[in-house]
Amino acid sequence: MYSTPPCDRLLVGVSGSIHAIHIIDYLLRLRREFAGEIKVIMTAAATRVIPPNTVETVLADQVLTDLWGGPTQKAPHIRLTRWAQLFLVLPASANIIGKAANGIADDLLSTALLSSPRPAVFAPAMNPAMWASKALQRNVSALRADGHYVVEPGEGVSLSSGELDLGLGPTPRTLLPHLWHVHLRRLKEEYWPAATAERARTPAAQQKPLVPVSALLAGPPAN
Ligand SMILES: Cc1cc2nc3c(=O)[nH]c(=O)nc-3n(C[C@H](O)[C@H](O)[C@H](O)COP(=O)(O)O)c2cc1C
Repeated sequence: MYSTPPCDRLLVGVSGSIHAIHIIDYLLRLRREFAGEIKVIMTAAATRVIPPNTVETVLADQVLTDLWGGPTQKAPHIRLTRWAQLFLVLPASANIIGKAANGIADDLLSTALLSSPRPAVFAPAMNPAMWASKALQRNVSALRADGHYVVEPGEGVSLSSGELDLGLGPTPRTLLPHLWHVHLRRLKEEYWPAATAERARTPAAQQKPLVPVSALLAGPPAN
């Protein structure tokens, strides 16, 4: 655990890939090594893979599933996406990738993605045929063209078939460099222009009198 995590506020959208079963491992690692505060949205399909109560136990916070929120959770798609420094969709199902690529907003996660002031990071996890499909690849290209970051899935053991498959997302450990990359690039884009707007100026350029070396060597004046 770092005393000051690199990202203050991370929003995680969990969609209905079977790999949502691993979300607890990811959240623990993210909390330990990356994010100060984490909020979670789950799709209806994701709640069938892992109960929101289980995620809430680890998160110590309410998991949001309902677009309409409630009296204390008004318009969560706007509130959460304004709050978040980084928005991660993990695991990203073929369905949520398709919806985000085409601006479909029919539940809390897809509406939050459309309302987000910043692009999101998607970590896809699906079977190799789904990943290789032309429709999915078209949608991934559209997301990247819109400025979103899509992690290229690698090889892993498929939870559906038990075989080694392509199309599976990063592990909790290999996810972190992707998040660092996006987060640092964004910080640079947001803060670099302001930080470098005023050129550092030497005393000579500021026309301040230079202290002669002899004065420095002489030490402080004796009282
Ligand atoms: C047992 C099972 C496993 C599934 N695994 C995946 C998966 O790994 N990746 C994926 O994209 N979809 C998977 N699906 C399909 C999604 O659950 C389905 O497309 C769903 O509509 C996704 O909804 P969401 O994007 O709103 O979460 C799976 C479905 C079932 C029943």
